[in-house]
Amino acid sequence: MSNPLASDLNTLRKVVEQNANPGRFAQTFHLVPPTGWLNDPNGLCQLGDTYHAFFQYSPFSAEGGVKMWGHCTSHDMVRWTYEGTALYPDQPVDVGGVYSGSAYVEDGVMHVFYTGNVKREDDTNYDYVNTGREANTVYVTSTDGVNFGPKKLVMANADYPGDDTEHVRDPKVWRDGDTYYMVQGARKKDDTGEVLVFSSPDLVHWELCNRITSNTRFGYMWECPDYFELTDTGDFAPRDAVKVLSVSPQGLHGGDWDRRNVYQSGYFVLLGDVTGTCALLPFALWDAGFDFYAPQSFMADDGRRILIGWMGMPDEKTYTNLTVRDGWQHCFTVPREVTARNGRVLQWPIRELESFRTNGRKATDAIEASDTRAFDLLVEQVRSDEELSISLADQLQILWSDRKFELRFASEDMESVGAGRRSRFEYLDELRNVRVVGDVSSIEVFVNDGELAFSSRYYPNEYNVAVEAPGAQISLWDIDATE
Ligand code: FRU
Repeated sequence: MSNPLASDLNTLRKVVEQNANPGRFAQTFHLVPPTGWLNDPNGLCQLGDTYHAFFQYSPFSAEGGVKMWGHCTSHDMVRWTYEGTALYPDQPVDVGGVYSGSAYVEDGVMHVFYTGNVKREDDTNYDYVNTGREANTVYVTSTDGVNFGPKKLVMANADYPGDDTEHVRDPKVWRDGDTYYMVQGARKKDDTGEVLVFSSPDLVHWELCNRITSNTRFGYMWECPDYFELTDTGDFAPRDAVKVLSVSPQGLHGGDWDRRNVYQSGYFVLLGDVTGTCALLPFALWDAGFDFYAPQSFMADDGRRILIGWMGMPDEKTYTNLTVRDGWQHCFTVPREVTARNGRVLQWPIRELESFRTNGRKATDAIEASDTRAFDLLVEQVRSDEELSISLADQLQILWSDRKFELRFASEDMESVGAGRRSRFEYLDELRNVRVVGDVSSIEVFVNDGELAFSSRYYPNEYNVAVEAPGAQISLWDIDATE
């Protein structure tokens, strides 16, 4: 490492990592930072038989700091190995942080694009929305995710539309035919969120080819866009391909948004051509739980579309994470296979997780178990007209009653199991099945074959599960992902 700033950051982050002790809420099968702060998934890809996941990483404080890319690898997406830090903010184009981005793999090469964040500081009064900020699109390649070539600036503020603010970021790249495409999230000067679509013949020269937004204003900024197409596997496929435009909008208020998270992540099914004329169907949440943001997807070599979210929520003032006192904060969700059936987009934990199930138990109507630190619970053939309740750690209730599906913590106290979290709910027409995947300090709930998910961190003192679901078939396993 010849750059002295990168070299010193590398030395320092090793020191803090050596002293790390994740404490009693350490996860067993979720990607976590070795110490400090983690946010968005970045550069998700498969290279040979190895999955690579990078993450927004601030090793020096559990409350965040300058962003670099941490790096993990896995052969099964369940057991992750930390490989060190890949990209440091060590150049004029990214000195304010190596922000989020993606990896596009071709012929064994990872083509990585990210936002080099720069916040200028001099005696000018910058607002960092319309002035003072550089959103540099930086391109760098690697064949192993560890060693990277030189950073190349491929777009800067002047290359984005003049009616956008300086909030343009999070490039996600794919290829269609002979052309490469990139989406970036943006905030317009009139405070509307939009997606910019760029095209390129060679990954270096990029041109704007489309701007996509909703018919009516939907928040002031759309972060972390992603675009992909799914083959509809349903019996009456209304369309061959379901086109998914995923975004993380900020600034939604009023109506149901007021009872949800401060920021959202979801998708629009896109009709038409992402690079030309298109329209967006209504926004659907990826996840209605407390902790889910900035997801990114990639296509595995076997054709599966895999989505990983950050199990966290920025700027949320009403709840926290008790791991901060152990020097770390946040983790990724379990990777989810995304599919489409009869026009509906579904998410389901990657099938690899099932091979880590042990100690299977089955019951009808009800089940109780203790010591459930890492578990997988499936409740099937639910009678939609009956009430259902799943209690976790005596403190978190998952409830179905009168078309309302709810996650509710018994206490709102900041020191309690929910650390300030209280309730998240959505109304559903019916309830057919529920799957809950629990790790030491997280739960992820998948409803109706994955039509909707709810993710949350939780901090139990004792672990137990109790299900009451009249007439339903219940299966419960431990998950053992230790080597
Ligand atoms: C989303 C986000 C991205 C940005 C990154 C910085 O959580 O704000 O838009 O690139 O985090 O860490």
